[in-house]
Formats: sequence, C-alpha cells, structure tokens
Amino acid sequence: MIGIRICGTGSYLPDNVVTNEAFTAFLDTSDEWIRTRTGIVSRHIADSDTTWSMGAKAAQRALTDANCAPEEIDLLLATSVTPDYYTPSISCVVQGEIGAKNAACIDLNCACAGFVYALDMARRYLACDDVNKVLIVSSERLSGISDYEDRSTCVLFGDGAGACVVEAADALYAFDMGADGTGAHLMFGRHVLHRSPFSKAPFVPNKILENPSKDHVLYMDGHKVYKFATQAMPLSVENACKKAGLSPEALDWIIPHQANVRIVQTAMKRLGLPMEKAWLSIDHCGNTSSASIPMALDELAHSGKLHRGQTIAVTGFGAGLTYAGAVFAY
Ligand code: ACO
Repeated sequence: MIGIRICGTGSYLPDNVVTNEAFTAFLDTSDEWIRTRTGIVSRHIADSDTTWSMGAKAAQRALTDANCAPEEIDLLLATSVTPDYYTPSISCVVQGEIGAKNAACIDLNCACAGFVYALDMARRYLACDDVNKVLIVSSERLSGISDYEDRSTCVLFGDGAGACVVEAADALYAFDMGADGTGAHLMFGRHVLHRSPFSKAPFVPNKILENPSKDHVLYMDGHKVYKFATQAMPLSVENACKKAGLSPEALDWIIPHQANVRIVQTAMKRLGLPMEKAWLSIDHCGNTSSASIPMALDELAHSGKLHRGQTIAVTGFGAGLTYAGAVFAY
C-alpha cells in the first residue's frame, strides 16, 4: 500500500481567547464543571475571521513549513462543517486566496472525522501519477452555529484551522473508516432554506428535524455521541494497526479528535496505551471539529517531540455519525 509523507503543517487560531469563566456571565455553569467534565480551560472564538480566511492562513503556514510554492499543489481538499457559503466551496476560495492556481478543489463534510477522511483521499489521489502534492485545509468557525443558550454544547466548541501538505512516500500507511447514518439525528445543524413561491405543501419535518432543536444552531445528544466515540476511536486505531501489521504499543503518538479529554482517556485505556502518547490541545482550543487533528498535529510537529520515522495514529469521530483512523510514518 502506498504511503504518505507530511511535508509541512500549519495552523491558525483567532486572537480572541474565551475562558470558561466568561460563560458564567450568561449561563448557569462554572469553570470547575467544564474543566473536570471536558478538559477544556479556554478556546479561541473568531471575531472578524471567517472559515475561509482562517483556512487560508493555516494553508499559507503549511506551505511555508513544507517549503512548497502554492503553484506546486495539484489538489486542495478542504474540510468543514461550518462553511461560509453554500457555494462556492471553501477549497475554491482558499485556492484563490493563496494562489494555488494549479490545484483542483474539493470540499468534504465528514464532521470531526473530516481531516482523516481527507488524508486518506489525498493518499488515493497521490497513488496516481498525475497528482504529486495535496494541500489539506481544515477550518471551522463553530461559534457561528453554537447555541449559546445550551450550556451542554456551547462551552465545548472553539474556532480555528489546521493544514498540511502531503506527498506520496514508500512508507507505512493503513486506515479504517466508516459511518453510521442511523445516528444522523444525534448531532446536527440545519441549513434553513427559504420556501419558493411555488411550494404549497405544509412543511413536514424529517427524522432528523423531529429533535427539539432550534433552527441555525447545533444540536447534540452528548451521552449517545460520547458512547459512540469511546467505541469508535479505539476500534478505528486497532483496525488500522491490524491492517498495518502493528500492535498499538508500536505507536509513538496518537493524535485524537479533541472533543473531551475523558473520551481520550477511555480510548487510550481500551488501547492499553499511556496518556503520555496522546497529544492534547483541547485545554486551550476546545473542540474545533475537523480542524482539531491537523491543529494538534501542527503543535506536535513544532514541539520538538515528534521525529521523522515515528509512527502516528490519527483518529476522529463526529456527526453523521462518522469515524476514521489512520496510521502512518511521520
Ligand atoms: N455547566 C454546568 N452543568 C452542566 C453543563 C455546563 N456547561 N452542561 C451540562 N450540565 C449539567 C447537566 O444539565 C446535568 O445536570 P442534571 O444532572 O441536573 O440533569 C449534569 O450537568 C450532567 O450532565 P451530563 O450530560 O451527564 O454530563 P456529562 O458528564 O455526560 O458531560 C458532555 C456532557 C461534556 C457533553 C459529554 O456528554 C460529552 O463530551 N459528549 C460527547 C461530546 C462530543 O464529543 N461531541 C462532539 C462530537 S462531534 C464534533 O466534535 C463536532
């Protein structure tokens, strides 16, 4: 199986840091509750930044890190659940902004598993001779869809972007990914489309819309998503390791989706791995959906602790429900 090489990484966080304490001004919550139940201490919330502008900044940093000119990119994959527009795609807007004029552009919406899906898609394109460099950009502005009247969800989310440049390599790579659409109603945010003058039938909610949600904002059944996450995360890593012919102990680093530190602790326990092998950024970033893994990867790559040749597992889960894990050599 052809592998990948991460040539460079980059990330961007908005300047505005919002502490747990800031939520107590308008919600019945506390720093103690949020910290102990989730591991989150603060998160960055966008002010003037948009999803595409954060993505473009992270992309530029990844290109610089990879010593790669924008024109060298053949394919730009963008992941987000919070795009600025229905159309055009974020990938097209970012492509125009950074001058990656030779790149084809595709957007993926696989929620918090989006980066891992994109990584695997990149690898498959790279396996063909005509794509040599892929830029993955994951950007999220979850503050724009969070329900600030719902204390069980709004305290979890933050904004930010992560990116990386990927090329093909003769190196270790294995993946495991999938979805369970029967869980679509457990987490969703609805596009509210206007009704045309030609629509006469009364509005009929579908299965998803029967949930007690408000329009425009994110709904989540935290307990059920938690249960799914604690099973899907370790399983995706185990399955990818199996395909790679590795035992999980051989992994040097796990970069999990940063949703809740307790989910990561349970997953690491199931894998029989110490927490020191998991790279966490949730304390200062919160949950940034598909951006969380590439942002954490960028932090780890620039921490001095990650070395070429080490084996990494990335694993994500999210709305859909989706899950994905990949194991590769850095
Ligand atoms: N502050 C204070 N109390 C709160 C808060 C808050 N912010 N939120 C909920 N509570 C209360 C609840 O109302 C409940 O009170 P009650 O007992 O009087 O009814 C109590 O705290 C316990 O609530 P639980 O829901 O049992 O708390 P739990 O420990 O399960 O944590 C959480 C909730 C953090 C949402 C957890 O279920 C979770 O992390 N779920 C998974 C979330 C996730 O991973 N989502 C992302 C997936 S997709 C993506 O990343 C975009």
